[in-house]
Amino acid sequence: MTSLRVKPIVIVTGANGGVGFAVCERLLLQLLQKTPPDSLPQPFVARKLYPNYPRDAPTVDTSSFGHDGITVIMACRSRKKAESAKRELLRKVHEEIAKLEQLKSYDGHAERFKTNFEVVVEELDLADMKSVFAFTNTIGSKYPYVSHIVCNAGVVSLTGYDWLLCIKQCCTEPIVALTSPLFKLQTVGELSVDQVGYVFQCNVFGHYVLYRELQNLLKRYYSLSNNPARVLWTSSIEAVPSCYDSKDWQLLKNDHSYEATKYQMDLLVGTFEARQEDASDPLIRHLLEHPGVVKTNILTSSVNNFILEALAQMLFYLVRFLGSRNHVISTYKAAVSAVHLLLVPLAFITTTGKGKTPLKFAAQSTRSGQEYVDADTVHDWESRAPDGEDLLDKCEALYQKFLAENPSS
Ligand SMILES: NC(=O)c1ccc[n+]([C@@H]2O[C@H](COP(=O)([O-])OP(=O)(O)OC[C@H]3O[C@@H](n4cnc5c(N)ncnc54)[C@H](OP(=O)(O)O)[C@@H]3O)[C@@H](O)[C@H]2O)c1
Repeated sequence: MTSLRVKPIVIVTGANGGVGFAVCERLLLQLLQKTPPDSLPQPFVARKLYPNYPRDAPTVDTSSFGHDGITVIMACRSRKKAESAKRELLRKVHEEIAKLEQLKSYDGHAERFKTNFEVVVEELDLADMKSVFAFTNTIGSKYPYVSHIVCNAGVVSLTGYDWLLCIKQCCTEPIVALTSPLFKLQTVGELSVDQVGYVFQCNVFGHYVLYRELQNLLKRYYSLSNNPARVLWTSSIEAVPSCYDSKDWQLLKNDHSYEATKYQMDLLVGTFEARQEDASDPLIRHLLEHPGVVKTNILTSSVNNFILEALAQMLFYLVRFLGSRNHVISTYKAAVSAVHLLLVPLAFITTTGKGKTPLKFAAQSTRSGQEYVDADTVHDWESRAPDGEDLLDKCEALYQKFLAENPSS
């Protein structure tokens, strides 16, 4: 978000709770400062992530890294939940403004921001194509452009846990058990109302259609601001290549469909970016991030046992103390990776590692709970890149099929 002063219009899916809510909150609170700390190169991280950031940092005019206003669109499947989340969000922003105004060093920026930001709720159910098309039509009729999309909403079709496997994994590899648990039991073969793999549609395909339908509005942002629009894809540390078999791309036979969708996201972002590698000036950038590990409804919805939830939370603190960087624990801290990628000037960061392997940015934490952003490469990219090409083509063909069935979209 640099150069021309075009007010960002940011869509966050699944913004009513968990990490999505925290992304909206953290983004707004950051923008109350003229130079949002999340827009700067991250602490504890190798300089190689910021190859173009001048070593002599004071020569950079960071005052242009923030904004005087923003529109945040909370795209949620339940209007009631979203409206209540919006009230909470506004309460937090106004509370923070009041705190800033008390500071001796207060520069008046938050007051300006207050008159020029808005939070809007729009309904979006990614599991229903009619809802996705209705959402994109609404956005097209109300807004002249879109600057950022955060593809955050996600589901695990969880039916419970395999407790024997849980005990075994906790005894043999406790940190892994609390980071990438093998013992989640997931529904197999569930279909959406559109007769598409349900988890695939919620996590991947619904977002693909969202992006394609809004592509022209994203491009318009570029033409107005001279900055590429950004599409952030929220993956996971659980994006395990072995969980994804490209022959079962809608994941209907897959008993680890959640992990597979997250790897599909990794492949899609790598493929999008590789396809436009030759474009010297891409109009839209696709960026990959994950929030580390944090207790939200996604992990506990099927358990509903507050003793187990409290136990899991305690164990998260324990493994963080033992050295796990992934256990950021609070949703606000988990949002640092997405907010960093929303705000950091793109000219300063690299999004590929060795051998042009795509990077996945991650919320991380020090032992004492200080959050920051680091990046790892997408696993097995060299051998699985063709699966990314194949998946992108299949998503496009399926999108075209739905377009033909929804001519008004
Ligand atoms: N928590 C973690 O440790 C962790 C780790 C790695 C990655 N992630 C990723 O972070 C993202 C957010 O997850 P979370 O942990 O914040 O979970 P969460 O609290 O369960 O939030 C998920 C959000 O997605 C929404 N959603 C689900 N299905 C939807 C649909 N069909 N259409 C529209 N919205 C839908 C939910 O809406 P409702 O409230 O209406 O259900 C909710 O707002 C997910 O992509 C997840 O894979 C989380």
